[in-house]
Amino acid sequence: MTTDHLPTHRASTHTPNTTRDGSPGSATDRLTQEVLRRFELTPDPRLRDVMRSLIEHLHAFAKEVKLRPEEWLLAMKTLEETGRWCAPGRNEFIIFSDVLGLSMLTVMQNAASPPGATEATVMGPFLVEGAPQFAMGADISAAAVGTPLHAQGRVLDLQGHPVANAVIDVWHSDERGLYDVQDGFEENGAWARGQFTTGADGHWRFWSVMPVDYPVPQDGTAIELLRATTGRSMRPAHLHFRIVAPGQQPLVTHLFDRLSTVLTEDAVYGVRPTLVVDFRRHDGGTAPDGRPMEGHWCALQHDFVLTGV
Ligand SMILES: [Fe+2]
Repeated sequence: MTTDHLPTHRASTHTPNTTRDGSPGSATDRLTQEVLRRFELTPDPRLRDVMRSLIEHLHAFAKEVKLRPEEWLLAMKTLEETGRWCAPGRNEFIIFSDVLGLSMLTVMQNAASPPGATEATVMGPFLVEGAPQFAMGADISAAAVGTPLHAQGRVLDLQGHPVANAVIDVWHSDERGLYDVQDGFEENGAWARGQFTTGADGHWRFWSVMPVDYPVPQDGTAIELLRATTGRSMRPAHLHFRIVAPGQQPLVTHLFDRLSTVLTEDAVYGVRPTLVVDFRRHDGGTAPDGRPMEGHWCALQHDFVLTGV
């Protein structure tokens, strides 16, 4: 790799044969400095800062591992293939971000979690905008297969007041470990997915089926990376929630089943102890909404506490 083809920027205070601090550098260092000099032209200050850091770290990484041409080409082809796996309801790039811990790192360093507020976690790759809207208490399971689950709780602010007009998106797997978007979404439509809006009491409740521990998608590029590296691809059983309410910060989070056997090895590092809750197992009896039940069913109760803007 040489810098022979790179033009000299007359406006620059540096010459192409020096590093940023003016000292002589290697050809690869001079390349890095030239790239940095060009991106210093970026008008937007935040974008300029982000690109400067990205280039510095990316080049340092390539130098540290002495990136080989065939490895670079494999990475480019993997990115191309990853794009092919993306479709409405599935973003394979997010799965890559998730399994590299980048998604959770971004959540952790940006989430304002004052004491008492519900912790955020990763969004995951399967959020669908414009999910079907349901009346509170409805059954969203549709074509989902599994043990009946009744879930309910409240949306509260930090002072403990109910939050009205909170729009709650919920989505989760069925007992096969699949999401609707992995199972003929175009033909079958949404299942185990819905949107609710809270009333003045802040209550939310719905029927669906129990989620189970499941592996990240077995048919994309992210799983190929995991198979070649950690070998850990399981996610603990969980429900996804996104809650958007007036005067509150949006919350994207999960509720995890305390009886999951893989809580300590989540493939996307999303488990927070405060988000591990009891999905109570029942056999017959009466559900919280008065429905007589036969056989096995589960019940979940949890309050979400939002942080004000
Ligand atoms: Fe999930």
